[in-house]
Amino acid sequence: MDNNSRNVLVITPSEEISKRVEAALSSHNEINLENEANTLTTLNGKAMELACKNDVILFTTDPKSETDIDALRALAKGHKDNTVFIALTRGDISLAEARELNKAGANEVLPYQTSEAELNQQIQHWIKEKYNANSQVAPSEGQSGKIIAVSQTRGGVGSTTVAVNLADQLISTKSRFNKKAKNKVALVDLDFQFGTVGSFLDIKEQDNMLQLAVDGRMPDLTFLKQSMVSLPNGLSVLPAPSKFAPINILKKDQVAAILDILKAEYDYVIVDMPRALVDWVGPIFERADKLYLVSDTSVPSIRQARRLIDFFSEGNLALPIELLINHESKPFFLSQHHKEAAKALERDFKHWIPDDPIIARKAVDCGKPISAVSPRSKLSKAFKTLAKDVLTAFPVAQHKSEIN
Ligand SMILES: Nc1ncnc2c1ncn2[C@@H]1O[C@H](COP(=O)(O)OP(=O)(O)OP(=O)(O)O)[C@@H](O)[C@H]1O
Ligand SMILES: [Mg+2]
Repeated sequence: MDNNSRNVLVITPSEEISKRVEAALSSHNEINLENEANTLTTLNGKAMELACKNDVILFTTDPKSETDIDALRALAKGHKDNTVFIALTRGDISLAEARELNKAGANEVLPYQTSEAELNQQIQHWIKEKYNANSQVAPSEGQSGKIIAVSQTRGGVGSTTVAVNLADQLISTKSRFNKKAKNKVALVDLDFQFGTVGSFLDIKEQDNMLQLAVDGRMPDLTFLKQSMVSLPNGLSVLPAPSKFAPINILKKDQVAAILDILKAEYDYVIVDMPRALVDWVGPIFERADKLYLVSDTSVPSIRQARRLIDFFSEGNLALPIELLINHESKPFFLSQHHKEAAKALERDFKHWIPDDPIIARKAVDCGKPISAVSPRSKLSKAFKTLAKDVLTAFPVAQHKSEIN
């Protein structure tokens, strides 16, 4: 295939539609058009392979079919090549249904009746978009920061350890695209009642967040600047209250405002999530660019992971959720148990953090990140790898530290 040729695939059981697309693209010699007389759902595993090979995939779908939506979501989430998905569907679908398709990963939703000329125009438009996006090495300047949420499948599995050490490594690990400036990173402890970020990092107890919740005020930048503690490595931390308070005293719009302000100020905002699924976790899901679900591989944790993934996805269908296995080094070969667990969760076990109680304990007792007490340990390296993954997925074009 030469560099200018483009691959377009039509997935539809309808002969009429595949013929229409063929006619729409007949004058484009650079386009290799293929056809799968199938539905998205029945393609199953093959769909992923097709998504990697094609620039544009047009498919017919019924937005009422949950299996179609699930198949699209899995496909759009799983592939990495900016494949464009164009859904062809009934002309009378509701706005909510169209949005559902968009959220699941469809770049465009068109009615079955779309004319050949319009189909041609849309396909050309999306090919152009795809190649323009790929030609940009990094996102545009002044981009908003990325929000990475960290949650857990059971208490004590290590989500605070992950949030703290990921934030720490994001500061010190240089981005592939900009090696000069440090990343500006905020760590927010939204484990409102039981947050331990403050003690993990030896931060003096303070109750600014509690006061905000009690007063029912909306946070602004000044409030956050006064409430955040700046550590010697440059990490800014918003600790959870040290006193107990009812969890629902904090309100949705306050959480939303905290995140929106921090997103504008920092390159990365790491959120240690509460265990309780209160209504104000909604704004976190809506804004998060990625969620790490920290777990072990025990059966109860995997079951809980399944329930949580479903719950989180309801809050934001497009939210990428990655499983992070704590207390286990990556095995050379996955055991049958691991394979079955990964299958049940419909995702790979991508991240593994080894068990190292001595170093983990030392870091907590010193009130420092693991990199400060044992930079060469496997534990420290595992967090560095995790941070690199975030930096690769979300490169920073111009650091906020350079702008401010
Ligand atoms: N990979 C690891 N190896 C050894 N010990 C670890 C590891 N990860 C975390 N720990 C230890 O496990 C304990 C619980 O960790 P952490 O507080 O991060 O869990 P959590 O999921 O946030 O708990 P909580 O439910 O209380 O919020 C801590 O003492 C921590 O040092
Ligand atoms: Mg915790």
